[in-house]
Formats: sequence, structure tokens, C-alpha cells
Amino acid sequence: MVKLRMENDKQSRRILENISTSVLVFDDQLRLSYLNPAAQILLAVSAGRTQNTPLEHLLSGSEHFFDNVRQAVATGHPFTERELILLTPDKRQITTDVSVTPLFDKTQESTVLIELSQVDRQLRIAREEALMAQHDATRDVVRGLAHEIKNPLGGLRGAAQLLARELDAPELKEYTSIIIGEADRLQNLLNRMLGPNTLPQKSDTNIHEVLERVRHLVSSEAPPGIKIVRDYDPSVPDLYADPEQMIQALLNIVRNAAQALGDKGVITLRTRAQRQFTIGHTRHKLVASIEVIDNGPGIAPEMLDKIFYPMVTGRAEGTGLGLPIAQALIHQHGGLIECSSHPGETIFTLLIPLESKA
Ligand SMILES: Nc1ncnc2c1ncn2[C@@H]1O[C@H](COP(=O)(O)OP(=O)(O)O)[C@@H](O)[C@H]1O
Ligand SMILES: [Mg+2]
Repeated sequence: MVKLRMENDKQSRRILENISTSVLVFDDQLRLSYLNPAAQILLAVSAGRTQNTPLEHLLSGSEHFFDNVRQAVATGHPFTERELILLTPDKRQITTDVSVTPLFDKTQESTVLIELSQVDRQLRIAREEALMAQHDATRDVVRGLAHEIKNPLGGLRGAAQLLARELDAPELKEYTSIIIGEADRLQNLLNRMLGPNTLPQKSDTNIHEVLERVRHLVSSEAPPGIKIVRDYDPSVPDLYADPEQMIQALLNIVRNAAQALGDKGVITLRTRAQRQFTIGHTRHKLVASIEVIDNGPGIAPEMLDKIFYPMVTGRAEGTGLGLPIAQALIHQHGGLIECSSHPGETIFTLLIPLESKA
């Protein structure tokens, strides 16, 4: 077995054990002789059980990649492939940039070094940036439109009021009161579309207290067949946030989950602290992640891209404002809401930076 000459080089071993790139070393028969912890995590395998495992069993799904590796071993020429899609032993699909470097030992025993760096993460960051830009753009359009409508609407309402005063016949007053009533309804809708117009009143906020409030509210209004399960990590530090706004944002999401479930189902509220986490462009030392997971029917793929837009709803009695408002509220805290969904599992993830006291 190849030792990589690391035993006498603690420093290089420490580096290998701690880098985020997955490193695998194979012998000339393409059987595994070493993999670092990042590779163990990526492939979900342990070092002990995988000694001498053939390359094909660890990374499958691309014949042409194996041919290239064999050729690299034969010729001694390294190669790199970008955004290669491979399957892990547990059949997960991963997208990685791969570098393959044949190494020649003094003893002429050749080995091959394979480095994998997962690009799903980068794709996620690109997607988040697009998502954030999209929210900003929609918010601007909606704001502009709502303001344009608000002024003439105020005029209409005022005129209807004046007219009502001049009218004697009660059956005519009924018409003016309809105008006033409908103008108020529109006004209300516009105010909600404009979203939060107060700046957040931030203070140290315990996310679990917020979640408990939301849990009680939703449990009391939802059918008894809907269970809300708590999976809280008590070590998540306090957020510097507006507790009322956090309650509102989470309430919108948890209510949607309850509505999607109908009579029965499970909603899980999960909190975690994530270190060194990137939201959009910005890398944060510590981020709170709050997940609302339900086992309901899921969101149709063609709908999934649009649910954060205002007025997008899948429910007859819906307004399509719950999610854009939640997104705007979390945005005010420097955070982001993401969603992934397939039938049986819908996850809304709120990511909120923990270090910013701004
Ligand atoms: N957990 C969920 N499961 C399935 N569909 C969901 C879920 N959450 C949101 N949706 C879909 O997203 C739509 C938009 O939600 P929202 O913005 O809160 O507006 P509304 O609830 O008024 O329809 C919902 O109508 C529903 O179709
Ligand atoms: Mg809703």
C-alpha cells in the first residue's frame, strides 16, 4: 500500500485532513489507498471500509472519465475536468471539478491522485445571487406600481365621500359606500404589497421563543391531524432581529405548510448554526438556518420559481403575498429564504447572518 510519505510529515497530513477539497489516492490498479476526511464526507464512506476499493465503485456514472484516468496512469499526463457529474456509492449525484495527477514513486510504483471540488455550492451561490437580484427588482416594480395607484385611489375615495354627503336618497348612498368600501380594500391590499414599511426594531432575539409562538398559533388554528415537530439546536445564539417581523415571516411559511398538508401531516421546525456560510455574495462567520419542512404534496416545479413573486398563489382563496412579505422581512435582516420541494418534502430555509449588529 502506498503511504504517500505522510507518516514522517505531520504537517502535510494535517493539511490534507483539513482542506475542503476531497483528495483520493489510487494505486496503479486504480484501487483506493487513501482518502482524506473531505472525501469521506463527500462520498459518505469511511476510510477503513474503503481500502482497496476500485475507483469505479467509489465514483460511478462516467465511463469516459474512467477511460481518461486509465490513460493518465498509462501516459503520466495529468488532466482536469470541469463540472463532471458523478455518482457516489450511495447513488447521490454530485457535480465536481476533477483534477487527476499521476504520481511516480521512487520505487517506480505509480499512484494517481484525484482531487474533487464540488461545484454544487458555487452553483447555489450563483442561484442565490440571481434570487436576491430578482427580489430587489420585483420589489421596485411593485413599489412603483403601488404608489402610482395609491394617489388616484385616495382621490376616488375622497370624491365618493363628498358625493355621499350631497346625496339624499339612501339607495344612491349605497353606491358611494360600495366605492368607499372597495377603495379601502384596494388600499389595504396595496399596503400589504408594499410590505413592511417600518424599519425593523432589532434586539437580541431568541429564535426558539419566536418559533414557539409560531408553533402555538398554528397548532391552535390547524386541524388536530397536523403535528408540529421541534428539532431545535439550543446552541444557536440569539439573533439581532425584530422579533415581531421574525414571527410574521415564519408564520407566513408555517401557515402555508399547514394549508398544504390539509387534514394531516407533519411540519418540522429545525434550527442550526452554520459556520463560514455564504449568503449571496457575502461570506458570514456564523449564520442561523431555520428550516420549515413539511411532508405534504410539494410545489409544482413550474410554480417553484415564482412563489416569491407577489400575487402568485396556488390556492383559490390565496393572495400570493405571504411569501414575498416573508422574503422582504428576512431581507431586511440581511438574510434570504430559499425553497426546495418535491412531493413528500418541502423545505423552506431561512438563512440569517448572526454576527451583524448593524
Ligand atoms: N409548504 C408548501 N407546500 C406546498 N405549496 C406551498 C407551500 N408553501 C407555499 N406554497 C405555494 O405557494 C403559494 C404562494 O404562497 P403565499 O405567497 O403564502 O400566498 P398564498 O398563501 O396567499 O397563496 C401558495 O399558494 C402555495 O401554492
Ligand atoms: Mg400564504
